[in-house]
Amino acid sequence: MNVLDELQNLREEALNQLRDADDADDIERVRVRFLGREGSVTLILRGIGDLPPEERADVGRLGNQVKGEMEDAIEEARSRVEEKKRQRHMREETLDVTSPGRRDFYGRRHPITVALEEILGVMVGMGYSVETGPEVETDWYNFTGLNIPPDHPARDMQDSFYINDFLVLRTQTSPVQLRYMKKVAPDLPVRIVGPGRVFRRGDDDASHSPVFYQCEALLVDEGITFGHLRGTLMDFARRLLGDEVDVRIRPSYFPFTEPSAEVDISCTVCGGPGCSTCSNTGFLEIGGAGMVHPQVLTNGGYDPEQVSGFAFGMGVDRMAMLKYAIPDIRYLYQNDVRFLRQL
Ligand code: PHE
Repeated sequence: MNVLDELQNLREEALNQLRDADDADDIERVRVRFLGREGSVTLILRGIGDLPPEERADVGRLGNQVKGEMEDAIEEARSRVEEKKRQRHMREETLDVTSPGRRDFYGRRHPITVALEEILGVMVGMGYSVETGPEVETDWYNFTGLNIPPDHPARDMQDSFYINDFLVLRTQTSPVQLRYMKKVAPDLPVRIVGPGRVFRRGDDDASHSPVFYQCEALLVDEGITFGHLRGTLMDFARRLLGDEVDVRIRPSYFPFTEPSAEVDISCTVCGGPGCSTCSNTGFLEIGGAGMVHPQVLTNGGYDPEQVSGFAFGMGVDRMAMLKYAIPDIRYLYQNDVRFLRQL
């Protein structure tokens, strides 16, 4: 068989195989077999120089023509196979646009977190910076340094979880006062809020939980008076709860403030006349306050003859209960989503 016939046969063969090709692999096999580096058409074209001179022109012309036709056919086969594949995808991957979407479950902020962030937002807006202290605290910072020596009856009010004789789960955020003053003394002014978790062993009823949150505030500077405390509490309460709320201050006792006070806010549920949330008093106790005791200023590294200050500490849980009218503080810690989802 002469070379020209052979080329015709190869063309026939290649075009037939391409017509039958089902996928890209089939096509690639055909290409390699005829047009690859060792492909039959390639070899013929490469061998032209060895042919008798009079055959070279015809073989060259036909060879290139066959090669071109094969290349075209390969392109064509490739797009046919691609299209077939696409059609199959379209057929098999049906999408029901009417079926309901899959919903991600997004968590939400816990009511205590929300209340705390609001409190901090107001205090930071009033120029206070946020300071925190450890939940496992030394006896000195939690009690003794705050004027509550080992045998002082005030320790009974805040019965504690002791780690050992010197370490306690803090019963209040007031140790943050001391820690911060010792850190920055004698710088003025001292103006901080200290949010955090506190622990009291004996607390466990509808308005007391053995774990709860407080937020402390401390201001120390020259010439600070009880009037500043009262004005700050009023300003704070109104910024947080609205201009219509009232603040009531009742005399009280804390070892680390003198004079001391309990702070009540007018009941936001009934607005004054009394309801079950405020036990018919029209007011809700939200925390304690007072002028920082001279001994505490001294312990913090300040001279009580030169400076004075006030502090207050509020129950964050109480604020959350007030905000959401939650009847039992323990709901906040059971983490029952049926409860939390309502808020
Ligand atoms: N630490 C006090 C308590 O937990 C509250 C308080 C804070 C009182 C600051 C006075 C000043 O009961």
